[in-house]
Amino acid sequence: MAVLMVVLGVCLGLICVCTALLRWNEVKYRKKKGLPPGTMGWPLFGETTEFLKQGPNFMKNQRARYGIFFKSHILGCPTIVSMDPELNRYILMNEAKGLVPGYPQSMLDILGKCNIAAVHGSTHKYMRGALLALVSPSMIRDHLLPKIDLFMRSHLSDWNQKVIDIQEKTKEMALLSSLNQIAGIQSVSMSQEFMPEFFKLVLGTLSLPINLPGTNYHRGFQARKNIISMLGRLLNERRDSKETQHDMLDVLMNGDENRYKLSDEEIIDQMITILYSGYETVSTTSMMAVKYLHDHPDVLQELRKEHLAIREKKRPEDPIDWEDYKSMRFTRAVIFETSRLATIVNGVLRKTTRDMEMNGFIIPKGWRIYVYTREINYDPCLYPNPLTFNPWRWMDKSTESQNYLFIFGGGTRQCPGKELGIAEICTFLHYFVTSYRWEEVGGDKLMKFPRVEAPNGLHIRVSSY
Ligand code: HEM
Repeated sequence: MAVLMVVLGVCLGLICVCTALLRWNEVKYRKKKGLPPGTMGWPLFGETTEFLKQGPNFMKNQRARYGIFFKSHILGCPTIVSMDPELNRYILMNEAKGLVPGYPQSMLDILGKCNIAAVHGSTHKYMRGALLALVSPSMIRDHLLPKIDLFMRSHLSDWNQKVIDIQEKTKEMALLSSLNQIAGIQSVSMSQEFMPEFFKLVLGTLSLPINLPGTNYHRGFQARKNIISMLGRLLNERRDSKETQHDMLDVLMNGDENRYKLSDEEIIDQMITILYSGYETVSTTSMMAVKYLHDHPDVLQELRKEHLAIREKKRPEDPIDWEDYKSMRFTRAVIFETSRLATIVNGVLRKTTRDMEMNGFIIPKGWRIYVYTREINYDPCLYPNPLTFNPWRWMDKSTESQNYLFIFGGGTRQCPGKELGIAEICTFLHYFVTSYRWEEVGGDKLMKFPRVEAPNGLHIRVSSY
């Protein structure tokens, strides 16, 4: 009897193992052949409404049901969402394998065909090279930082005893400071005319591509035309003036000592690229830094200490220089912690240029891949107590160089304006915390998804420090 039981047990065990092996093989086979799991929602609209309404919760729910690699249909396209840190790294590193930027059509139409997100391969390499020459460390040190310093002093000069909307002010700051770096004094006269057109252009890039009068897309397209004409005027004036200005336009027109020769159309699209890429990122990070500093007096105290020490060594009229900027270690940490906790960038979009296998699934040609990096910002293994605002975690240099930090993207498209953006925010914070104290008026709502914004502004009462 006992022998019979053992034989039966062995047979049952064997059957279980064989069934498991067969099932595993079947799943593997199905996976190899098909799309990842997930839902596609309604025809045409897909799951866009759920995605926009529920935000990060939509992503979390789908992840709980389908894992960290699933299909969906959002923002008008069949899309694969990848939350897999290793795979996300692979995707960002391997554009040459057919994983090119996949930004929406309205963005490509309005930012122009020479825009960096619209070009691939050798053209991208060339345009990126031309752009890197504009924002190199020596360019920032010798020419851009002095301009940023002068701009910030003037921009912040009259906030005392006022209630200001810090969202509006940081938006103006990001745009006008970039314009000033591009064309120096020449830009000042056109800035008031430029600003409303630029805001329409930004709205247009984020809208559905329906070119009918009254739509944001249509207005954005008109704004692009007006902006091209204003920037074209700038170019012609500069050609006529023969003076050297040491600004970005100078380098663009002289092709970094003729290494990069660009047509007028390319120069204009490069200027639009710079203005657009640094606009929302720099402004929102600055606004959120003000918010977090307000809510964390210990951090504000440490930050102020760093900046007062810099000021003490200078006369009031002395500008911030490269050495000062490099010494702002805690400020840099505040900026990284703000970008992480607020998640200014949720992820980046890519598009497949051919059918390709990924994670054992087949991703069809032309599908979008949402390289969703938000979750990684809250990974407790990388950031202990991830929901706490703790800039000190960045004082250890290795935090900034870890493999899964995607705040500034990664791979061949990693943000070329990273240092410039950080330098701008550092200079803004320098003059803000050394000149003023502030309190929130209160009651303003903050939205974190799909973009970080204060729908009715973020109002603060400012007084001198
Ligand atoms: C806090 C500030 C900033 C943040 C968080 C940020 C973030 C990013 C991210 C995540 C990407 C990758 C996009 C992708 O892979 O598709 C990117 C690309 C880019 N950024 Fe920034 N950025 C900032 C400031 C700036 C500034 C000031 C400039 C101005 C020069 C700039 C210019 C660009 C450009 C041109 C690209 C595209 C690069 C390419 O396609 O090769 N960014 N940025």
